[in-house]
Amino acid sequence: MSRPEYLAPPEIFYNDEEARKYTRNTRIIDIQVKMSERAVELLLLPEDQPCFLLDIGCGSGLSGSVLEDDGHYWIGMDISKSMLDIAIEREVEGDVILSDMGQGCPFRAGTFDGCISISALQWLCNADKTSHRPVQRLYTFFSTLYACLSRNARAVFQFYPENSNQMELITAQAMKAGFYGGVVCDFPNSTKAKKFFLVLMTGGNMPLPQALGDQEDKNCVSYMAKREHVKKARGKPLKNSREWIQEKKERRRRQGKETRADSKFTGRKRSGRF
Ligand SMILES: C[S@@+](CC[C@H](N)C(=O)[O-])C[C@H]1O[C@@H](n2cnc3c(N)ncnc32)[C@H](O)[C@@H]1O
Repeated sequence: MSRPEYLAPPEIFYNDEEARKYTRNTRIIDIQVKMSERAVELLLLPEDQPCFLLDIGCGSGLSGSVLEDDGHYWIGMDISKSMLDIAIEREVEGDVILSDMGQGCPFRAGTFDGCISISALQWLCNADKTSHRPVQRLYTFFSTLYACLSRNARAVFQFYPENSNQMELITAQAMKAGFYGGVVCDFPNSTKAKKFFLVLMTGGNMPLPQALGDQEDKNCVSYMAKREHVKKARGKPLKNSREWIQEKKERRRRQGKETRADSKFTGRKRSGRF
């Protein structure tokens, strides 16, 4: 299949129909959630501390849901109104803004403890309008992102580079904007599982995190299970458990958002039958 960014500009490609199809597709949900979880892992956030995060190209909030499940607060930015409408319909906890990342990140200096971006960065390499200069847009984006991150914060982008030139172009603009870092390639020998993460650091030239490789490849399924296990060991409720739902609702109430009252049915296991 041709890459979506060749077909139309993002705000056109992700129209009402596509946005709904995207958000309902269980295979897509599964992939986006896994990649978001890996991005959060690569952020190396302080343990057991809620952080304030930015999600670039947040879409309908699949990546943002992972942030809130981990107890973080987030703001999302996206160029597609249809995607954001669905995020709002899904009642994501984060606030979302309609904005083109190529025009920069419109936030105060030092606002965020970290940033993730899942499957969005490659769109910035395209010139969808005659006025678009991808190199310039990349630089504007990275330099304003650098400014709105707190020092020592990281930004992790899962993206689909078209080729090595594009990867170099993106990395060069990020470095020019002041970031350290580079690309981590997970499962490099697997056509299906291979994923690229651009890991950017605002301070200290720390070594890049280790990629997941062949060894873990065999344990790919148990990687997520391990994560749930670690969560449990840290005393966090397991996803979709009654405690997990109650915690999530409590966070929404603290944010002043309308939230359904708890009942004896909250978190009840469904039979699977309709
Ligand atoms: C594949 S979707 C991913 C959405 C979400 N991160 C997820 O994991 O489900 C890519 C998103 O990037 C957004 N995007 C593409 N170019 C953008 C730009 N210039 N500024 C902001 N968002 C953009 C698209 O509108 C789309 O919602």
